Amino acid sequence: MHSRNAAARLRAELVPCLCLLVLAVAGCSPERYPQTALLPLSDFARIGDHVQDQTFYWALGVFVLVEGALLYAIFRFRGRPDDPEPRQIHGNTLVEIIWTVIPALILAAIAVPTVKGIFQVNGTPEGNLLEVEVVGHQWWWEFRYPQYGIVTANELVIPAGRTVHFKENSVDVIHSWWPPRFAGKRDVFPGRETRIWFKADSTGLYPGQCAEFCGIQHARMAFHVRSETPEAFEAWAAHMQTLGAPKPAAAPAPAGTDSLRTASSGANVQQESQADPLFAQGETLFRNKGCIGCHSLQAKGAPTALIGPNLANVGARSYIAAGWLKNTDENLEAWIQNPQALKKGVLMPNLGVKPDEAKALRAYLRAHK
Ligand code: CUA
Repeated sequence: MHSRNAAARLRAELVPCLCLLVLAVAGCSPERYPQTALLPLSDFARIGDHVQDQTFYWALGVFVLVEGALLYAIFRFRGRPDDPEPRQIHGNTLVEIIWTVIPALILAAIAVPTVKGIFQVNGTPEGNLLEVEVVGHQWWWEFRYPQYGIVTANELVIPAGRTVHFKENSVDVIHSWWPPRFAGKRDVFPGRETRIWFKADSTGLYPGQCAEFCGIQHARMAFHVRSETPEAFEAWAAHMQTLGAPKPAAAPAPAGTDSLRTASSGANVQQESQADPLFAQGETLFRNKGCIGCHSLQAKGAPTALIGPNLANVGARSYIAAGWLKNTDENLEAWIQNPQALKKGVLMPNLGVKPDEAKALRAYLRAHK
């Protein structure tokens, strides 16, 4: 009876431990949990990962030795009913020196790569840098490329193999910019510039996240990093530069247009899109519903004071609503009609857009790639 109780108790203690272990190991899967900092994809991220690995292995060694000694002592020197009184001791100078010196040496061994890493990540990179300005907004991210004169939002495009130097700030509250596969967190402040840098060594699409509580939609203040080959990046940047202000003689002004011309009424979108009646309807709605008051459709020379994300290439992005919704036609239409239901508190108000109007606006925006 007693042994069955003991076995049941052991099982009750072991099962939760095993479950936790399984969960912890499952957390290492980058496919299911892409926002991991444990699989670095840049020089910067590897510095922190290296320190973390070293600390972990030291801690693992200490754990095994200490727990091993403890378990050995528990079982080897277990008290029995007829044992005599153990010899009483009071302190042991040699042992105390040993267990002070060993941890001090281990801490010194951890401090060396840690301090070195702190200097490395706080250094200013040199060479052929790509400069990017990161601007935090409640609740989305703006990315400006001063060397190319272009701006985009929520999907950062970078060239793999080239160091990107980020200058960061915020237009409202404190946020924290965090692309976990590429770099650590860096707080962004209104009125104060912070900096970070990294050189990506892989191409692909990777998630990032605001890491400082900044209001009701903090958790949905995400973004993506699209790392491209240098050639693909240059092609992207050159294409973005064509998504600029319309040239004066590029196209006749649409009927009923006054001074509020949309940026896309020039040569920014493909001709077949412009021939689509939904496109024309969407263009008018974009103006008349007031979308144009907050969103620019120019990537080059775009106004910098607008409160909404730049939409110059929104049709080509993977996500909308700052990394929160896949950029499908359904999601885009749902978002246009009722952003407050999908992301409560977002600065974009419900504008009373009807379903057929949302379709037209979706077609218009989808053509902006
Ligand atoms: Cu921005 Cu949290």
